[in-house]
Amino acid sequence: DVLSRTKGYGKLILMGEHFVVYKVPALVGAVSCYTDCDAVFTDKPGLEVIDERPAVPNYKVTKKDEADVAIGLVLKHFGIDTTKERGLKLTFGGDLCCASGIGASAAQVVAMARALSIALPKAMTEDEINAAGYEGEKGYHGTPSGIDNTAATFGGVLKFQRTDGDPIFTKKKVSEPIRIVYASTGITSSTTKVVGDVKAKKEADPAWFDDLLKKYVALVEKGEKAIDAGDITELGKLLNENHTLCQELTVSCKELDDLVTAAREAGAVGAKMSGTGRGGLMLALTPTAEIQDKVAAALEKLAPQVWKTTFA
Ligand code: MEV
Repeated sequence: DVLSRTKGYGKLILMGEHFVVYKVPALVGAVSCYTDCDAVFTDKPGLEVIDERPAVPNYKVTKKDEADVAIGLVLKHFGIDTTKERGLKLTFGGDLCCASGIGASAAQVVAMARALSIALPKAMTEDEINAAGYEGEKGYHGTPSGIDNTAATFGGVLKFQRTDGDPIFTKKKVSEPIRIVYASTGITSSTTKVVGDVKAKKEADPAWFDDLLKKYVALVEKGEKAIDAGDITELGKLLNENHTLCQELTVSCKELDDLVTAAREAGAVGAKMSGTGRGGLMLALTPTAEIQDKVAAALEKLAPQVWKTTFA
């Protein structure tokens, strides 16, 4: 079936949001939920987009304009002009609940790239799909690191690093699935705005930023080792420290901090904000099913949406 080949996965950043923009390594895990896309060329010119993705309230409304730009950029990347001869109908669906922080935009453009490669048809490597997704991501925010579309394309747990050229990434071997809970603050934040704000702060005080970046790099090196060793308790501690750095970077907010505290109090071995911040999502590491249930129950009292899943 065609649709099953068009998956773009959602993601959660384990370590390194914002710092990753400045070409240091980050750790990201794809969730099993995905967006898919069906692309059909039509006889008459025109672009029709049907969006059937499940989403938290307000997600579609807030993101509509950016989505149009992103879709346009992917079409341009493929050299498709729907105003001339053929038109195009795109239908987005899947089980990924679109919420700020889950990488829904990347999942969407990667699924779209896969669908176009089938509809044209045009044989494409996974790297080419990823590159097409990256073009689309630029519609959501001008200078994406590429971490979201890479996770959306390849899935699994990845170590990702932006470079001046192509990004470097490796899939991490995970001996056992990493059990997590993630929760939405219900607040949609703009990646463009928050990334821009961090940049302005960095430029105003480079020494302050460099100090945070150094601390972060030391953490992510340990984080990779903890994943390699399957040491979830150690990874949890590092996630907590990463959250503190996000607070110092001013990208967390009270709603995220409250959820993080509640998750830790309910037994999570570590918890942090994940993604852009100032709204969006937080994630908690929960080594057993019992702790996962407890943490989810605690978060449900505070958060409008809570999900349980694993990074495989
Ligand atoms: C967004 O998921 C992650 C950020 O680091 C932006 C990016 O990497 O492009 C905030």
